[in-house]
Amino acid sequence: MSEYPYLQGEHTPVTGEAEASVLKAELPKDLVGTFARNSPNPRFEPLGKYHWFDGDGMVHAVSVRDAAATYRARWIQTDGLRAEVEAGKALFTGILEKPRPGAPAPLKDTANTDLVWHNGKLLALWWLSGTPCALALPSLETIGPERFNGALPRTMAAHAKVDAASGELMFFEFSLFKAPFYRYGVVSKTGELLSCEAIDVAGPRIPHDIAITPRFTVLLDLPLGWDTAALAAGKRRIGFDRESPSRLGVIPRHGKGSQVKWFTISPCYAYHTVNAYEDGPNVVLVACAIDDPIPSKRDEKTPMLDTIALVPKLRKWTMNLETGAVKEETLDDTPSEFPRTNEAIQGQRVQFSYHGRMAPREAMMFDALLKYDLAKGTHRTVDVPKGWYAGEPSFAPRVDAKGEDDGYIVTVISSVEANASEFWVVDAQTLDTVTRAPLPRRIPIGFHSTWVRGV
Ligand SMILES: [Fe+2]
Repeated sequence: MSEYPYLQGEHTPVTGEAEASVLKAELPKDLVGTFARNSPNPRFEPLGKYHWFDGDGMVHAVSVRDAAATYRARWIQTDGLRAEVEAGKALFTGILEKPRPGAPAPLKDTANTDLVWHNGKLLALWWLSGTPCALALPSLETIGPERFNGALPRTMAAHAKVDAASGELMFFEFSLFKAPFYRYGVVSKTGELLSCEAIDVAGPRIPHDIAITPRFTVLLDLPLGWDTAALAAGKRRIGFDRESPSRLGVIPRHGKGSQVKWFTISPCYAYHTVNAYEDGPNVVLVACAIDDPIPSKRDEKTPMLDTIALVPKLRKWTMNLETGAVKEETLDDTPSEFPRTNEAIQGQRVQFSYHGRMAPREAMMFDALLKYDLAKGTHRTVDVPKGWYAGEPSFAPRVDAKGEDDGYIVTVISSVEANASEFWVVDAQTLDTVTRAPLPRRIPIGFHSTWVRGV
């Protein structure tokens, strides 16, 4: 067994690609589309220390139509992976190691983090900001790098947002080494880069997400980045600088970099936003916030990403664009992550969000799903079957859905004990299990997933 927690147990990678019918599935006829999850899954034995963020991107997908399903898994054929396949071995080290002499680049852009459906393509995106890699659905074949007719100036970070009403894609990108350290951009419904503005942030940091409203985009400038003292000593380590401001920025969707209104908030880091909306003069953001990302003490029941403790709380910031005031409220203390909403109305004020509840395990996995009523700040719990753990949930609207939560919560659950995974479908209103469809093999808990309707 590997010494690294994200190569063990529910995170153990699979060894190859796959395509198979899902047998014994009793799926609803009004569930039509593809559930796709991006997962780090190293193709070759890692060189040195392994971090969960290092593995090559592999997409696991369950495509559902006429109450039948097909499971597929394909590695994302990034330039870095292609070079390693040609060499027949790993060429890149991960983020916990120094690059090896002769490596094609300091780090491999694996596109292993999020999936965004835009302009008829599934874009696989990387947490450290990389080249989007376009995939076809339902085949999962790699189409290739997506640079929007060559206009993308540098990279795109993992969490880009699509406004289903306009079809526009809002994104950010960042660099830890070269200015500008942060840019914000918009791509049209048909794939033209409309803008890409440099944003004045405090320095090189590791932002992870944004949020959109119909008129604005919320940017997160939070002080998580390389530990500068460790970097000077030749070590790569993540640091959280509590003395440096934590800020939220609100920019008009098509605005200039100079138009950002900044709001200083209590020190925190947030991997993921839940939602943002406009309310009179206010822009409101809800996110999963970690107050003490790098605690001096750790216990084995706190999920860790190397040195980062994953103890997020559901928090709401109300930012008044007229007065510059910001109000902070913690809606719930239950540690939850990987929030998703009904993506058909992303950017509008939503009532419901769907999260994974953190299991008290060293590596991140979910022992329950939570459905939040964001208007009330309350949640209902769907327990994952005992001995099984869930990855990120997605919301799949029923065909001809009548309301925001008229549909299904879909995800993959896995059990090492049973050496199995299942496609789990839960009625999003009653929270009753609709079906547990066995997949042909156990697949690892991964990163982000999406539901693509009708494809
Ligand atoms: Fe993420």
